[in-house]
Amino acid sequence: MRIGVLTGGGDCPGLNAVIRAVVIAGRTLHGDETLGYLDGWRGVMERRSVPLRPTRVQHLLVRGGTVLGSSRTNPFATDDGPTIAAENLAKDDIDALVAIGGDDTLGVAQRLGAFGVRAVGVPKTIDNDLSGTEVTFGFHTAVETATEAIDRLQTTAESHHRVIVCEVMGRHVGWIATYAGIAGGADEILVPEVPFDVAAVCERIMHRHERGRYSSIVVVSEGALPGTDGDLAAAKAATTSSSVDQFGHAQLGGIGAWLAAEIERRTGYESRHTTLGHIQRGGSPTAYDRVLATRFGVEAVAAVHDGAFGKMVALQAGQIVRVALEEAVGRPKSLDLSLLSEVAAPFFG
Ligand code: F6P
Repeated sequence: MRIGVLTGGGDCPGLNAVIRAVVIAGRTLHGDETLGYLDGWRGVMERRSVPLRPTRVQHLLVRGGTVLGSSRTNPFATDDGPTIAAENLAKDDIDALVAIGGDDTLGVAQRLGAFGVRAVGVPKTIDNDLSGTEVTFGFHTAVETATEAIDRLQTTAESHHRVIVCEVMGRHVGWIATYAGIAGGADEILVPEVPFDVAAVCERIMHRHERGRYSSIVVVSEGALPGTDGDLAAAKAATTSSSVDQFGHAQLGGIGAWLAAEIERRTGYESRHTTLGHIQRGGSPTAYDRVLATRFGVEAVAAVHDGAFGKMVALQAGQIVRVALEEAVGRPKSLDLSLLSEVAAPFFG
């Protein structure tokens, strides 16, 4: 078979490991040829691709990012976009497409099914917000990176008796904040799923400091916002860009800076903020993510050969399974809130 592969959306540790697995498993198990589309759906729209041979990808297991490049191009942004995408794949004699991406990229793959595109999805995102799979590859690496950062911030916070707010990624969900916050011993974890109360956060910090613990670490997801009206308006103004990408997403960032300033103003404690940003998305995948990405890539090839189009490979109860793409996209997988209320909260205040 002739298989197309693309990587869309934000880069993520493990993308290259999936590409490697698709190419090598396809060639060695089935004699497949693989064509890599450049820069996500943009490469399909512009018919820009490179042939991928095992010798070209065998060293990719440890490399972060994606050698194919990525973009947030959406073929559905124009009326004739979906037809152009389908026609270009046909011109390239593509029998099946492996789309590696998050909600947006896989949503396109699912919708292109109606235009005759035979696609299998592989779930990618450091945010871990895709439904249908317990974990996406990249999440584990991002949590390791964020945890190491929090460990380092702890020692500076302690030495200077400061409050340090650490902003991590997580547009819709607080998986990274919660896992890294628990692993790093955070004193507050604020997530998009639960609007927070700045006054209550400050009270708990003051309570801690009055009890003789003169430093605090607050971990906040980039998408977390206060619930009270005045604070909400101020925080939104400080954190959301006015422009949006082709999928309608504004650029986020700034809640950490805003919150640190509020905490200092309301408590009088010296406060700082650190935004981890793309540091969480870069670099080599952990062993866990290398294995998961490889399992996903091998299974995607198997799904292609079984004709399981419109499916996404997924991890459920330790096993790699296939779920319908439409089950996975369009509804972010929210945090298991008991992790916050039962596991993290006893260590707050
Ligand atoms: O990949 C998802 C994500 O990490 C979100 O948490 C974040 O909002 C977004 O990417 C930012 O991506 P970029 O800065 O590349 O637009």
